[in-house]
Amino acid sequence: MIQKVRAAVFPVAGRGTRFLPATKASPKEMLPIVDKPLIQYAVEEAIAAGATKLVFVTGASKRAIEDHFDTDAELERALTDSGKLDLLQTIQNIVPKGVSCIYIRQGKPLGLGHAVLCARPAIGNEPFFVHLADDLIAGSPGCLSQMAKEHADHGGSVVAVETVPSENTSSYGIVAVDKSNRSRITQIVEKPKPADAPSNSAVVGRYLLSGDIFDKLETIGEGAGGEIQLTDGIAALLDESPVYAYSFAGVRYDCGSKLGYLQATVAFGLNHPDTGERFREHLKNVLSD
Ligand code: G1P
Repeated sequence: MIQKVRAAVFPVAGRGTRFLPATKASPKEMLPIVDKPLIQYAVEEAIAAGATKLVFVTGASKRAIEDHFDTDAELERALTDSGKLDLLQTIQNIVPKGVSCIYIRQGKPLGLGHAVLCARPAIGNEPFFVHLADDLIAGSPGCLSQMAKEHADHGGSVVAVETVPSENTSSYGIVAVDKSNRSRITQIVEKPKPADAPSNSAVVGRYLLSGDIFDKLETIGEGAGGEIQLTDGIAALLDESPVYAYSFAGVRYDCGSKLGYLQATVAFGLNHPDTGERFREHLKNVLSD
């Protein structure tokens, strides 16, 4: 029987050095796109896809993430007293009823595979999502909802992919697939040089994984960059259980890069009900100067 996906893992321990000094004392996942931090977009996407257990794998100086998803009684009182009830509702609905948050510390920065392994005690043997908040995907339904549907219809693990320019393969996990078998992944390699890449189909930060991955992550050891790589755990799974590459509908913004972050801000700013119209006018003026 195909199990519904109820848990989502958010690896948020990384320091975000590409955004220093902004990320010196504040987590990169708290960088806002218009008025919401990246991690809230991540959580909303996972909840919309059916997740009720949110597992954050955190590290040093990430307390703001826990605070963000916690109740703030003082702020709620202040908003109530000043009659700002719409804002009160906004902050009260960040984590809907029935959804629980679990925080696990990744003591050492040993890689994405290690971060996911840290979540094992909270997940057990169920299928689960992994969401990398740096990759912001605008799509309706959200990318994880699309992947959950794919899983519900056909089973197996599912990894979101998109085509990237060949010269960029060394920034991603790269897959080779069997097109005659619903794009079942036959090979996955972490950050290969263009000459070694099996294709230019790149893994983006959305995974729906079977609980079997944990045993693999326990044993694979260090991979690219001396880290325990999620990609290597998936590679170890391929012969035993199917993992499918899924080309999602939507636009991905690499908010781990300055340019991608600005592109996301422009796109979301143009679509935001509070800012869209005036921001469009503003951009027109700026660009015609
Ligand atoms: C991680 C993964 C990589 C994947 C990428 C997607 O790399 O290791 O396989 O393609 O996320 O964003 P990172 O960007 O954390 O270096």
